[in-house]
Amino acid sequence: CIPWPIAIDGPAASGKSSLGMALARRFGYLFLDTGLMYRAVTLAALEAGVPPEDAAAGEFARSLDIRAEAGAETRIFVGGRDVTGRLREPEVEHHVSAYSALPSVRAAMVAAQRAIAAQGPSILAGRDIGTVVLPDAPVKLFLEASPEARAARRSRQAHEWGMAQEAAEARRDIEQRDRLDSSRAASPLRPAADAVVIDTTDLTLEEVIRFALELLGCD
Ligand code: C5P
Repeated sequence: CIPWPIAIDGPAASGKSSLGMALARRFGYLFLDTGLMYRAVTLAALEAGVPPEDAAAGEFARSLDIRAEAGAETRIFVGGRDVTGRLREPEVEHHVSAYSALPSVRAAMVAAQRAIAAQGPSILAGRDIGTVVLPDAPVKLFLEASPEARAARRSRQAHEWGMAQEAAEARRDIEQRDRLDSSRAASPLRPAADAVVIDTTDLTLEEVIRFALELLGCD
């Protein structure tokens, strides 16, 4: 019953992917976690030894064959190799904001994201979906949560992903990424003027899903 595409933006560990995947499963829509695409560029650049300040970094990123497979979850392939399982590694996490600030990297990713969104009913999660990638999306959600709540969630997720991380360390990481993502010149993290902002600090995932469904008129 819900119109598409649906744009979900917000800072690190605000619950975008959890909500996006839950809605995608419920409605049989495609889900694209665009953060994984920027993580894939970062992984490939680190492996190739191309730092973000290298003048050729944008060209290198554009030359990559990055394919995102949107389904109920997102899988990412670089040159045909499935790298999804490596994209949460600390090395990638620490450098992703520097690579994603490069306009040439963003231009390549945004074009690929729009092409996926045009395939059919879809939900995209990221930082600039409502403002840049899909400014005409009929539904735009912007999730927020306190740094404490986000760090606690990320620390729990990290354990599930087999990468133990204490909440204090998770908080330092996500605050640093939020600072870089919000202050960059190209497509900074911010809610679109017509986005509905949801503070999920005191909400369970179930409550966020219910809130979103009510908002969409589909409860
Ligand atoms: O969503 P996730 O935390 O996995 O995103 C990783 C990083 O990718 C973000 O910190 C941000 O630098 C970048 N990103 C972006 N634009 C998006 C999605 C993610 O710049 N649409």
